[in-house]
Formats: sequence, C-alpha cells, structure tokens
Amino acid sequence: MTAAVAGLVLSLGMIAPSAMAVDPGAYDIDSASSLQVVVNKHRPLNPATYVPGQLVRVQGERLRAEAADAYKQLAKAAKAAGVNIMPISGYRSYSQQASLYDSYVRQYGQATADAIAARPGYSEHQTGLAMDIGNASGTCALQACFATTPAGKWAADHAAEHGFIIRYPAGAEATTGYTYEPWHLRYVGGRDIADAVTSEGTLEAFFDLEAAPDYLP
Ligand code: DAL
Ligand code: ZN
Repeated sequence: MTAAVAGLVLSLGMIAPSAMAVDPGAYDIDSASSLQVVVNKHRPLNPATYVPGQLVRVQGERLRAEAADAYKQLAKAAKAAGVNIMPISGYRSYSQQASLYDSYVRQYGQATADAIAARPGYSEHQTGLAMDIGNASGTCALQACFATTPAGKWAADHAAEHGFIIRYPAGAEATTGYTYEPWHLRYVGGRDIADAVTSEGTLEAFFDLEAAPDYLP
C-alpha cells in the first residue's frame, strides 16, 4: 500500500459508516411515489393530483405503508421512554389540502397562509409520507412551543432513528418557505438518510437544490 492510499484509508476510516453510505445522487427526488421525493414551492407533485397507492390507517390518520410502519415504531419507542405521541394529520388529498389552504387564506390572508400551509399539489401531506404529531394532552398543538413539550423534544432527538426528519426546521424559512414546524415529520426512507438530512438541516441542502421561499411566477 502506498503512503497516499494508506492516508486515504485512514481518513475514510474516520467517517462514520452510515454517513459514507448516503449518496444524495443515488435517490429519486422527482417521482411522486419515491420515498425521497422533494416537494417544495418550486417542486409540485407530478401529477399535481397524485394519490399514493398504498395508504394505511394509523390511529385515525393515513400514511403510506412504509411510513406507517416506521411511524408505529417511532410512537412505540417514544412510549417506552414515557412520551405519548399522537398523530394529528397524515395524508391529505389534493382537495383536502385546497380546503385547508383556502381556509387559511380567508382567516389570515395569502402571505400568512403561504408561510404555514402548502397550496394543493405542493404539500408533503399529499405524498402520504408526512405526519403532524402532537402530545396526548394537546399542549402546543401545531404551535412553535410544541418544540418545548415532551413529544416535541423527543421527536427532535429521536425521529431520525426511525427514518423521519423535521422537515421545516427553525431558521430555515428562507430555504423551505415555511415557518418552523417542529411537529411536521417527513419519512425519508430510513435512518441513514434521515441522519444525513438532519445534519444538513433541510432536504434542499442535502440534495443541493435551490432555496424555495416563494412560488415561481
Ligand atoms: N404545513 C405544511 C407546509 C403543508 O401544508 O404541507
Ligand atoms: Zn404537516
């Protein structure tokens, strides 16, 4: 072995095996049915009215089967740690998202609505891979203070172990286009990629995509 090769082996050895295994270029981020699809204000679902094939019910909400299995494991692990996590909103169809978005526009105006809810065809909830979670007590449901509650803290520390990311982190508004949502979990296919994306902060950063703060004209 030459000194150069030995040096390379040594330096590669310092990278954690899970981090080495994750190559952003190996994933399909375009297909609506991909577990790694990236949906944001510049990247609508294709087709806009996409409906996932296999939706299963989890405590009254629906998710794609892979995400549902992972979510059940997450909730079980939380419970074992003494934290009760409840599902609030999983899969939402195009028309359900349209109703939600329209109600926010009527209530708060379009600018605020766009900062807190996706337009129909642009929501991760329509992929069946996103779940909004809450505490069993309802404390701070869908509010930033959720991050300070038992469920919020547990999710921030352990969601990636179950293949989920916090999709809209604090301070990433200029990239994601959405205010902090410590309750919005997105399944990305497994622990290694969830760890890698969490380290980068956002899916946009991990996949080296442009920031998507606003809809394109
Ligand atoms: N609240 C998120 C951005 C959604 O509506 O999909
Ligand atoms: Zn959500």
